[in-house]
Amino acid sequence: MNSLFNLGQAFLHSLEPERAHDLAIKGLEFGLYPHASGPDDPRLAQTLFGLDFSNPLGMAAGFDKNARVPQSLLDMGFGFVEVGTLTPRPQAGNEKPRLFRSATERAIINRLGFNNEGLSAALRRLQHRPNGIAGVNIGAGRDSEDRIADYVEGIERLAPVASYFTVNISSPNTPGLRDLQSPQELNSLLKRVQASRAALPSPPPLLIKLAPDLSEADVALAVGVIMAHDVDGIVLSNTTLARDGLHDVDFAMEKGGLSGRPLFARSTRMLARVYRLTEGKLPLIGVGGIDSGETALAKIEAGASLIQVYTGFVFEGPPLIGQIKQKLIEAMERARVDSLTPLIGSRALDLVALR
Ligand code: FNR
Repeated sequence: MNSLFNLGQAFLHSLEPERAHDLAIKGLEFGLYPHASGPDDPRLAQTLFGLDFSNPLGMAAGFDKNARVPQSLLDMGFGFVEVGTLTPRPQAGNEKPRLFRSATERAIINRLGFNNEGLSAALRRLQHRPNGIAGVNIGAGRDSEDRIADYVEGIERLAPVASYFTVNISSPNTPGLRDLQSPQELNSLLKRVQASRAALPSPPPLLIKLAPDLSEADVALAVGVIMAHDVDGIVLSNTTLARDGLHDVDFAMEKGGLSGRPLFARSTRMLARVYRLTEGKLPLIGVGGIDSGETALAKIEAGASLIQVYTGFVFEGPPLIGQIKQKLIEAMERARVDSLTPLIGSRALDLVALR
């Protein structure tokens, strides 16, 4: 079975990246994927912000933007899926080509610009609630005059079907969106979002996703605002505009957000910093450059309660899911513990010194 998927993988990687992605989604819709070998080891389970995760590994936002395949991803062994980013109305996104892969860098650059079918299409699909945790990542429309109203609309309309929400204010491909991370704008955003959640009968938990390009001082300010507004968790991080350390020059010149292996160190340092700033009190989702059991464990030790992958999954394929879970079980056995809790943040101090 695995060799069949290796063949499929090789075929997909011979295609133009966006076409390969569309085909991969179609394959998942048609059931062409390996199922998880059995139920998750109970030591991988955690309850966080009121949700029961059977394992800590999720599919990151952007892979299943339109909620086409959450059940397939869960069946493959992911512990949760984050669909979106969804904007209130459908958007075409930027001009093609807008998605670039570098096999040598194990990295992707994208400038998709929130291409998505909008809230109504996703709502319709998610009415058939997947059997598992499906979070919804929401954003603001490109030409929106009131961005905050777009987030509020996303929350109000999708609340009946979302396991949790991630407010995405960190995509680099919608001009001005990242400005919402400044303390003042973040404060206004969270005030309105929390007021709208307060009016809902059973509001799903609220997470916020930050960019890895914030300065240390700006991270501290953003975290202060987030804590003051009782947000349930933080997703760290989105893609970076930085290009340090890249050798594939043609690739590096493409505009957009960089993900995958070159993002690992940057996003993991930021994660450890936020873990220390929040004193471990807020669940963090670590994402950026996970492509092996080792890098998954490193994220957890830096402070992540949950982890997500996108680019690593594109290069490694479905076997990565089992490899990560196996590595985490081995780490618990080595540490003679029977849950992930003692590992979370255990190496945050080694990674950052707070001044
Ligand atoms: C993304 N990512 C993303 N994030 C988000 O919040 N909303 C989105 O719509 C998208 N879209 C998207 C498209 C593509 C092609 C990629 C590669 C990534 C970012 C993603 O969720 C994640 O934060 C980063 O990619 C870092 O993780 P990896 O890819 O290094 O595992």
